[in-house]
Amino acid sequence: MIIAANLKTNLTRKETKQYIQELDTYVKNNAISQEVLVFPAMSSLDENDSSVIVGAQNAYPTKDGAFTGEIGTVHLDEFGINTILIGHSERRHILGETQELLIKKFNYYKDLGFKIVYCIGEPLSKREAGESEMMEYISTQYEGIDTNYENLIVAYEPLWAIGTGITPTLEDIESIHKELKKKSPAPLLYGGSVKVTNAKDVLAIDNVDGILVGSAALYAEHFCSMIGFAEELS
Ligand code: 13P
Repeated sequence: MIIAANLKTNLTRKETKQYIQELDTYVKNNAISQEVLVFPAMSSLDENDSSVIVGAQNAYPTKDGAFTGEIGTVHLDEFGINTILIGHSERRHILGETQELLIKKFNYYKDLGFKIVYCIGEPLSKREAGESEMMEYISTQYEGIDTNYENLIVAYEPLWAIGTGITPTLEDIESIHKELKKKSPAPLLYGGSVKVTNAKDVLAIDNVDGILVGSAALYAEHFCSMIGFAEELS
């Protein structure tokens, strides 16, 4: 399974270093065979020789150049980073990234062979509009994306479940993951208010290949427990 932590705009470089060390110790002491990914804030990217894979929450589709506020592959290469998150709802909806830009990023990082965690998910209005409108909306997020890319991981994160403490029912997650699995053979993660109290149930659902955790992952101890659940279930 794949257990991923999106640290968003949290933890300084020093805190991130300590965080990764804690995860590394847990993974090694418990002989964990799951894939553990961590996406730190951009300024917390650093050398990494741990058992944890460190990825970028974002980067521009460029090696370098004049793109104020962005980073390119020279900055990722400096730390041997070849994993990236693309299409997170906060980048789509708060930062205004369009599908067109996401396709550009996807293709750029795909050509470089990066492991790409590509996020999809519907807002509440689409969920409430019924199954077919919701699936239609989600389908637009697959437009222009090579769903057969070998280093692709898809993360289903309903917007209304992110940071709200509300999750779809286990049955809802099961049914949407079943549908989404028809769209891509890539591992499919669930994200949105996953916490230590529900992670085990979520991980046990058919077609859930892992989890992408935000706020609850900020506590290394909680995130380690979730890694432990995945190990037990595998
Ligand atoms: P929360 O776990 O805080 O709901 O965030 C989920 C998320 O956005 C992970 O990418």
